[in-house]
Amino acid sequence: MPHDWAIEGPFQQELWGETGKLPYQGAGWYRKHFTVPAADAGKRIQFEIDGAMSYSEVWLNGRFVGGWPYGYSSYQLDLTPYLNFGGENVLAVRLENVRESSRWYPGAGLYRNVWLTKTGDVRVRQWGVFVTAPRLSAEAATVNVDVYLENLGAAKATLEVVTRVFELEPDGRRRTGPVAVSEPESVELDPARNRDGMRANLLEVVNPKLWDTARPARYVAETELRRDGVVVDRVETPFGLRTIAYDADRGFQLNGRLVKLKGVCLHHDLGALGAAINVRAMERQIDILQAMGCNALRFSHNPPSPEMLELCDRKGMLVMDEAFDAWHRGKKWPGAKKESDPDIYYYDYARAFPDWHERDMRALVRRDRNHPSVIMWSIGNEVIEQWFADGWQFAARLAGIVREEDRTRPVTSAFNNGDAGYTGFQTALDLVGFNYKSNGYGPFHRKHPTIPVFGSETAAMISSRGEYFFPVTDKPEDARFDFQVSSYDVTTEWFFNTPDTEFRGLDTAPFAFGEFVWTGFDYLGEPTPYNGDRSHLLNVSDPAAKARLERQLAELGKVLVPSRSSYFGIVDLAGFPKDRYYLYQARWRPELPMVHILPHWNWPERIGQVTPVRVYSSGDEVELFLNGRSLGRKKLAPLTYRFCWDDTVYEPGELKAVAFKAGKLWAEAVVRTTGPAAKLTLAPDRPALRADGDDLAFVTLTVADNEGRMVPRAKLPVTFSVDGPGEIVATDNGDATSHESFQSPSKRTFNGLALAVIRTKAGQPGEIVVRATAEGLAPAACTVRSR
Ligand code: GAL
Repeated sequence: MPHDWAIEGPFQQELWGETGKLPYQGAGWYRKHFTVPAADAGKRIQFEIDGAMSYSEVWLNGRFVGGWPYGYSSYQLDLTPYLNFGGENVLAVRLENVRESSRWYPGAGLYRNVWLTKTGDVRVRQWGVFVTAPRLSAEAATVNVDVYLENLGAAKATLEVVTRVFELEPDGRRRTGPVAVSEPESVELDPARNRDGMRANLLEVVNPKLWDTARPARYVAETELRRDGVVVDRVETPFGLRTIAYDADRGFQLNGRLVKLKGVCLHHDLGALGAAINVRAMERQIDILQAMGCNALRFSHNPPSPEMLELCDRKGMLVMDEAFDAWHRGKKWPGAKKESDPDIYYYDYARAFPDWHERDMRALVRRDRNHPSVIMWSIGNEVIEQWFADGWQFAARLAGIVREEDRTRPVTSAFNNGDAGYTGFQTALDLVGFNYKSNGYGPFHRKHPTIPVFGSETAAMISSRGEYFFPVTDKPEDARFDFQVSSYDVTTEWFFNTPDTEFRGLDTAPFAFGEFVWTGFDYLGEPTPYNGDRSHLLNVSDPAAKARLERQLAELGKVLVPSRSSYFGIVDLAGFPKDRYYLYQARWRPELPMVHILPHWNWPERIGQVTPVRVYSSGDEVELFLNGRSLGRKKLAPLTYRFCWDDTVYEPGELKAVAFKAGKLWAEAVVRTTGPAAKLTLAPDRPALRADGDDLAFVTLTVADNEGRMVPRAKLPVTFSVDGPGEIVATDNGDATSHESFQSPSKRTFNGLALAVIRTKAGQPGEIVVRATAEGLAPAACTVRSR
């Protein structure tokens, strides 16, 4: 645990690309045998599930305990009545992913952590501590700690509640000495009178350290429950002190400072590792995105893991916390159904919505409301209800539930219907998010001048890392080939935008407070534009393109589209940045001297042909040189974001970009034609790991020429192996069409790169040596220490 049974595959061509061509559907069982000491009789034993995909049902010793449909919700069950104290117990969990349950790869199984917890009868309720700071200044913070208690015993309990606040080190360790201690609050709690059990502890923190994106200072509230002077429960609640405010004219403010959201959307899978959570893998995602200048994440379109939010708190990421992709009307239906069928909407989350939306909504807010990173609640993504006259009623209901649980953050929803305001839907919310409506901010602002607006989902550019097609065109069919998409970053589907279009939209509507790009990383499933099958692929308008695609299909001998993961990522599935990464970095980190050239310069078949060169830079002027000759120095025209030398004629050699800012030299980059592949190189992301059986090394394999330069078109088989206390848990290459097993130690490189993910062994420190071989090339080795 955590475990995702479907990531083991195998990929099946005949399965849907939308869910990654992986066998995620069907039922699975988990069983755990355990003993509980007889001395624990009288205690309460809970089973806590952070997430189980999906429709989980739990039995203990053959008796049904309970369950929960939504695979992304966290919940707990009380095992006590069914437990065999002093003997053996069998816990069984049944999970089933039903048909038409997801628009992306959801994973399968107990893919998040599960816990057994032991408490007394009188205790703090699940997620029963809510910390807020009703007054916050540089000198002092008034911290209010609401503590919800419950008494499951038979006798009245006389209790005292006390909270102490400590500072947290960046790594989550607690500093000695409380910085504040509350007065003890007394409460008499009758059995089963849980509702009366809320007590507020007030504290004052002097000279508070604020949680911010650059310096995410944190605290922890330690709440103690005493009964007759004896501590009967103790709960630790990490939190942060910060203010957030939204203004329809000025935008979003964090601690009184205007901050633009430079955000990306993320699905929850971790590429080759599948949906099973791993803290290091999530941390790596955040590290790669922060290096690009990203400061915000939208977990589309469902609750993230608790560990992911903890990382966001720790690393200073702002979070749009989203509950649902569908409400009463689902987005999926079996192919045989017709639009006119009344039953059509009864799939994906819509199956559960009538009975479960309240519990799911409350569970999300209660679980996550202490995280300083969470700056807004989203009740839905592009829900079908935005198109219906009754939509506002659902919106008002869900927003009402959120507001009952948390009054400190606004409620939003992501719209692809810019006119949903006419039905009153948008006015049920505090903020409005637009998906792909780069021209919509102004008109909306004029119509609803008091509702802040932002880009909840933007761009949706598609590309394959290291692929470039000619001629460079924004006609989608010409920018596709062999189930890949050109990385000139000009291709989108008709309903999406280029990054530049979104930048322009935001730059001409300064009140719109930022964007969440679709998506930060590629994800399993939804391989637009190759979503469907052969017929979808061939459904292009241009007869010449159609003929070409038909020819390709025949040549490839493929009946169906092979694509199993998305092309939307700014970063590919393996975690390697695509060119677009630098387009965002140039905008989001203007203070970082950088310049990036595309394409690569290995085009032996293009000598003498026009081969456009594009440059992304945080500078304001760039001069491009080909083999020492200047191709001109260029400035960006207003509201443009890339430097273009579109009539460059290819000759092998060296391209050099020299960037300037305010007339001064700012950054340089060089791309050279390489020699043939000669050797492999290996580079781990970190030199030392924890020997805990969880920590991972992400090792990048590069196919290099004799001088060590990456050979950008190298697609060749490599094999990884490991000596020492580590194991290969996954390999990848970022190729959305690859059906090689993620668990295989062998992989084809994709445009010069491949990845091996190595896991340490618990309690076995030592040197892990990773090796890679490929026929005809010099092998490589690297070492990571596990300690
Ligand atoms: C959006 C949707 C996303 C994803 C994206 C790309 O409309 O909200 O979940 O499907 O399109 O196709």
